[in-house]
Amino acid sequence: MAATDPRSRNAVTTWVIGPGRVGRCLAWGHRQQGEAVVLFGRQAGPWQTWAAEQNLTTALLEQRKQDLAERPPQRLLFCPGDDVLAESIQDWASAMAGVLPGFAVHTSGIHGLTLLQPLADLGWRTAVLHPLLPFTEAETSWQALSSAVVTVEATEQAKSEVEVLGRLWGCLLHWLPADFDRRPYHLALSLAANHLTALLAWSEELLQPLLGDQARPALTSLAGHAVQAFEERGPAQSLTGPVVRGDAEVVAAHLAALPPEQAGRYRQLLEPLLDLAERSGRLSREGSQALRLLLNPSALDEESPDSKA
Ligand SMILES: NC(=O)c1ccc[n+]([C@@H]2O[C@H](COP(=O)([O-])OP(=O)(O)OC[C@H]3O[C@@H](n4cnc5c(N)ncnc54)[C@H](OP(=O)(O)O)[C@@H]3O)[C@@H](O)[C@H]2O)c1
Repeated sequence: MAATDPRSRNAVTTWVIGPGRVGRCLAWGHRQQGEAVVLFGRQAGPWQTWAAEQNLTTALLEQRKQDLAERPPQRLLFCPGDDVLAESIQDWASAMAGVLPGFAVHTSGIHGLTLLQPLADLGWRTAVLHPLLPFTEAETSWQALSSAVVTVEATEQAKSEVEVLGRLWGCLLHWLPADFDRRPYHLALSLAANHLTALLAWSEELLQPLLGDQARPALTSLAGHAVQAFEERGPAQSLTGPVVRGDAEVVAAHLAALPPEQAGRYRQLLEPLLDLAERSGRLSREGSQALRLLLNPSALDEESPDSKA
């Protein structure tokens, strides 16, 4: 059974659903703030050992009925995966009939407020709070959350509770209109976080044979400077490298160094890079034409400038 900490008897009761990266972080952080937290999972697993080490109260879904009778939550934070979020909310709404309505939140970027409608229908105030943060370990992510932007889609009735949560997380709240198109929004964030990680992983694989353990810190520093320049000068002016210089020979050398499947991948990545270079006004017409030829694999044999000599 989910025993609540007696020291927290008068504290806000927050239940966190989904013991993954986000759920663990929020459960840990809210507990640190003195709330009575219960972290709910749908099945037993190593997350329970982790929670026990953190002195966090846990429960499985089948214990919910008893816990609801003993001490219902004032806040529900939904953090299962996006693929099961709708059914999880629906399932909780079915279990909540007769419970005093509180404040329900989910943290998904791809799903909006309508997913929480089953709880809104029971009188719950509802909000989507989406942290623009890649979550890792609980404690590290809780600290990072305090400097992150968190976007909000909420009903008017939930506004004050959203602001309380924003202060608790220490984050910068950014309010978004109701029912906006989340697809380009989510894609943008995925490009900046997930795709960047994949690019860095590929860079590390290429550099590791030469730099060994130093590859990762070297790339972190390089990428950090690129991100800083992007922030300070914007994309058009911060772009460097052979593409914006119109140096097709160097790009041809890159292509020649790669096995065919990786060359194809590199070509696809060159598309947006070349688009940006052209829009920056810094790439000559000739440079652009030479580079565009390289995007078509049949237009050139992929020999490096050295091997041509
Ligand atoms: N990760 C990020 O950086 C990040 C950032 C911003 C927002 N988000 C959002 O946060 C939410 C959670 O993401 P995440 O990365 O933390 O996912 P995750 O690591 O995959 O964790 C999901 C957890 O929920 C559990 N679960 C699944 N169905 C459940 C249910 N019905 N009841 C209770 N627990 C259930 C899963 O365990 P089992 O499958 O083992 O049961 C798993 O432990 C998503 O909506 C995501 O879009 C994530």
